[in-house]
Amino acid sequence: MSANVGFITNSLTSLSASEGLRWISSQFPGSARFSSALGLEDQVITHLIGTQKLEIKIFTLDTGRLFQESYDLLDLTQKTYNQTIHTYFPHAAAVEKLVTEKGPNSFYDSVDNRKECCHIRKVEPLKRALNGAKVWITGVRADQSANRGTMQLVEWDEQHQVIKYNPLLTWTEKNVAEFIEINKIPVNTLHKKGYPSIGCAPCTRAVLPGEDFRAGRWWWESSNKECGLHESKAVLTK
Ligand code: ADX
Ligand code: SF4
Repeated sequence: MSANVGFITNSLTSLSASEGLRWISSQFPGSARFSSALGLEDQVITHLIGTQKLEIKIFTLDTGRLFQESYDLLDLTQKTYNQTIHTYFPHAAAVEKLVTEKGPNSFYDSVDNRKECCHIRKVEPLKRALNGAKVWITGVRADQSANRGTMQLVEWDEQHQVIKYNPLLTWTEKNVAEFIEINKIPVNTLHKKGYPSIGCAPCTRAVLPGEDFRAGRWWWESSNKECGLHESKAVLTK
């Protein structure tokens, strides 16, 4: 795999996000997958995939606790780009057990409980969504958090056994906003109401002027504010 990751890194480093996605699509037709949380960065990537008709499967993890505005955007995005966005749900039995035993709001009680909910509703479904994939594309940006600042454009993800490609890693918040404006890309109506980063409804609040981009995510915690999707120690080469 080391040769692969090294070769892909070299090939992608000098390419724009648009060119990089095109290259991935041509090198891995049918086995590259993009996980969209319908965030601003995700909408940029969906636009690049949809307008270029790339052979990259787009999927979203529907935790069952999303905002109505996120479902509205999912619907609008599929229609705008005439693009299927595959939806993965958590296992019903696992959610039933969690909610029966711990109640519907257990995530507020402790970081462990919150991570348990994220595991059932996001981490496990991601594993299924990536089953058989060779490349996993995400919308993370380096300046979103200290943890994300350590991520690479191309990494080997040991946990999922895939090459992880973060095409917008070096984009700033301003780069993303400008690209969206110029290309008239549909975005979540909650952004205008003070929600720069949007996850599940009970775990996301609006931020105050001057507050950090991710301050509204799991706002009651002082953890590293990750749900587990991007916590696996990814390595540059293997
Ligand atoms: S989170 O881990 O804090 O929830 P964030 O919302 O910043 O993540 O999104 C970062 C990237 O993680 C997204 O660009 C996307 O690739 C992936 N991701 C996060 N949540 C989901 C989701 N519900 N469905 C699909 N992909 C997701
Ligand atoms: Fe559960 Fe909140 Fe994690 Fe969503 S963000 S999966 S509701 S703990």
